[in-house]
Amino acid sequence: MRLRCFDPKCATTFDLHAPVLACPKCGELLEVDLDFASVDAAAHKALWSERRKSRDPRDISGVWRYREFLPDYPAQEVVTLGEGNTPLVRGHRAAAWAGVSDLQFKHLGWNPTGCFKDLGMTVGMTEAVHTGAQVVACASTGNTAASLAAYAARAGLTGRVYLPAGQVSLNKLAQALDFGAEVVEIEGSFDDALNMLLDKTGEGIYFLNSINPFRIEGQKTTMFELLDQLDWKAPDYLVVPGGNLGNSAAFAKAFDELLRFGFIDKAPRMIVVQAAGANPFAQLWRDQAEELTPVAEPDTVATAIRIGNPRSWKKSLRGVRNTGGQILDVTDEEIAEAKAVIGRDGIGCEPASAATLAGLRKLRASNSIAQDASVVAILTGHVLKDTNFIIRAHQREEAHAHS
Ligand code: F0G
Repeated sequence: MRLRCFDPKCATTFDLHAPVLACPKCGELLEVDLDFASVDAAAHKALWSERRKSRDPRDISGVWRYREFLPDYPAQEVVTLGEGNTPLVRGHRAAAWAGVSDLQFKHLGWNPTGCFKDLGMTVGMTEAVHTGAQVVACASTGNTAASLAAYAARAGLTGRVYLPAGQVSLNKLAQALDFGAEVVEIEGSFDDALNMLLDKTGEGIYFLNSINPFRIEGQKTTMFELLDQLDWKAPDYLVVPGGNLGNSAAFAKAFDELLRFGFIDKAPRMIVVQAAGANPFAQLWRDQAEELTPVAEPDTVATAIRIGNPRSWKKSLRGVRNTGGQILDVTDEEIAEAKAVIGRDGIGCEPASAATLAGLRKLRASNSIAQDASVVAILTGHVLKDTNFIIRAHQREEAHAHS
């Protein structure tokens, strides 16, 4: 395995563990390139199944179980909290509300820190340990910070998180503090915090935002686990919320590899849903533009995806195009309504996750999706990630009922 520039025109390669964040030649993001000649898919499926009976921490992890497709590390270096292994849960009310008959949620909020970030952080933190890092850092809308803090604590490293002041759910901030991270509040947006941190590279800080290709490798295993759970038969559609677009980029890479090496014969159409106030990717799609125009002042109640300049848009776009998917946005009102419906299914999630169901309903309403299509929606964060949002919504409802 090696690192490779994502731009096919450049495609410069580097040693897998080279200390580069972006391509020094053209500035594009990097990705891990699996230079396998071929893979025995059936043997791998059987091996991964067999590992579910094992007591090895790497086999128990729903990420490292698929380690043949991850960078290789000595077992003692692997930083794991038993992430992954999240169930598929049917949402009956949610399906009826959206107007589809076959809807399952893959709830990544049921990970150690309550969010999908753990799936990438376990690999990113392991790489940090492998390269001898002492300090790890990220900019975050909250969840990456909580996850980084937990895995840094686990690895015995110093975690430092840069958060947009006043724009992060207190539940997430509390997690970062509980896990002992240094919290730096930035006046400005997530995008400002990320820019500030990128300026600090080269100061002996290991950088763990989702432009880090090792995080993408971990997050791609979500699709390995999902397809494993579905006996390697893809649903018709996969719906995912989009912020910085690392997660959809990771899923796109998974489909690429699983198709290339014969694990599946069809990928789901990938649908990315953004919040209307932070929707540069949806705008690009509507305008059929070739370049992304950032949103200068992103704003949405779904603070996790309040991002105006998503870094992984090219990787994500390639996945949407390759799978015949699409990109859309939904309003804050639609997100709030969808979130309440998911709650009434006994499942619950944070606001950003509910963008998936709101997006699905919108696509059904315009007949872009058949009523009997099979759909898996990715819920990215746990219901307890933003309790203030819930309390405020119910206070408003009560005030309304008494007025
Ligand atoms: N859902 C939740 C709950 C998130 O926290 C995020 C991103 C997303 C969706 C979007 O994922 O960025 O890969 O497209 N949160 C980041 C953070 C940015 O800092 O926690 P994406």
